[in-house]
Amino acid sequence: MALRVLEKRSASLARRCEELRAARVVVGAAIVRDGRLLAQQRSYPESHAGQWELPGGRVEPGEKPADALVRECVEELGVSVVVGEQVGPDVPLKKDMVLRIFSAELADGEPEALEHNAVRWLTAGELPGLDWLPADRVLVPALQVLLN
Ligand code: C5P
Repeated sequence: MALRVLEKRSASLARRCEELRAARVVVGAAIVRDGRLLAQQRSYPESHAGQWELPGGRVEPGEKPADALVRECVEELGVSVVVGEQVGPDVPLKKDMVLRIFSAELADGEPEALEHNAVRWLTAGELPGLDWLPADRVLVPALQVLLN
């Protein structure tokens, strides 16, 4: 009986792993300068307006995650970045998507809120108090490590 329950649980875990492997990736940039992290405040959709997130967005079909992040930083901030290592784990989002954050270095330009309400440079101490989108909030401890 116990074996049957374990078999069922293991099959269901295997299905969930497969779903996450096939998940669509949303990339985000952890851009650090002078010990501060860049965050941007969403203006849309209404349910997320006013909340903060790392710059980024969906990886398009056939696009590499790092290329998507470079594209999103141009579109959202008007800057070019050099993409580094992944920061923290993949965080499940709604439906079949995951949020994947990479460290990124500003290569050219000064970040401007081209599609958002505002941008802000945050110290490690300011990160926990901000009204983050839920998936970005999960990554706050990993982001604090980057700043310390
Ligand atoms: O920005 P965009 O609408 O393309 O993002 C796709 C999804 O990823 C949205 O549901 C958004 O809330 C989520 N997202 C997130 N954290 C980010 C960037 C996007 O949770 N840093």
